[in-house]
Amino acid sequence: MARVITMHSYRGGTGKSSTAANMGLLLAAEGLRVGILDTDIQSPAVDTIFGVPPGAATCTFADYLVGRCEIEEAVRPVPGQDLFIVPSRTGLSAINEIMADGYDVGLLNEAVTRLVAAFRPDVLLLDTHTGINTETVMAVAGSDALVIVTRAHRLDLAGAAESVALADRLGCGQRAVVVNMVPEGTPDADLVPRVEKAYGSPVTAVLPYVPEMAELAGEHVFVTAHPRHALVAGYREINSVVLGDAG
Ligand SMILES: Nc1ncnc2c1ncn2[C@@H]1O[C@H](COP(=O)(O)OP(=O)(O)O)[C@@H](O)[C@H]1O
Ligand SMILES: [Mg+2]
Repeated sequence: MARVITMHSYRGGTGKSSTAANMGLLLAAEGLRVGILDTDIQSPAVDTIFGVPPGAATCTFADYLVGRCEIEEAVRPVPGQDLFIVPSRTGLSAINEIMADGYDVGLLNEAVTRLVAAFRPDVLLLDTHTGINTETVMAVAGSDALVIVTRAHRLDLAGAAESVALADRLGCGQRAVVVNMVPEGTPDADLVPRVEKAYGSPVTAVLPYVPEMAELAGEHVFVTAHPRHALVAGYREINSVVLGDAG
């Protein structure tokens, strides 16, 4: 049975997509079969992170949503890994249709069910758009675990109550709260208690701000380029919490 794990953050640019990609590669390296479905049709990232050239995918999650192809056709294996990705979209055509006509939100759950049946992943990671929107609510509702990615500053933490309410209401009990992009060299004894108070949950990992992340530019994912970096230990910690006994 696949374990479905959804990424969530209240604000954008906190590191959901990069965290998902790194978690996925580590799990695949441990021998699990992994899929990553990018449900973020507003601002896709998984294609770029895994080096899919712009426009290379003729069938994507967004194309499936508008009925142009089957979800199984949108799957792209990542060479050399027991990992597949489903890009969200690679052009504007499908999103134009979605903005004009909307789509049946039940298609997200259908996509998950069909991907699990056809490709039998041990873990399916769902990357999502920032904040609370229809796709995220559907994704969280159908998940076994939720990874909440946040920075430690006031603006991010202001959204914590809503993220927690979302997880509680949708019954997604297993949670990892990840504090990302913590500046190195500024010890802040209050950081973890402050985040734990905001989320009412223990902090699973505190990840440093690592400038090398920005330099990878789609050629490598961080864990592949820097396997011994402290950041990688943080990603492993998240995996062990969200997989529970399955890991
Ligand atoms: N720990 C980190 N240190 C430095 N940069 C990071 C870190 N985590 C993510 N980033 C960078 O931050 C940017 C936004 O990350 P992304 O994963 O796209 O966020 P989101 O999916 O939440 O919008 C990317 O350029 C990514 O490489
Ligand atoms: Mg993203």
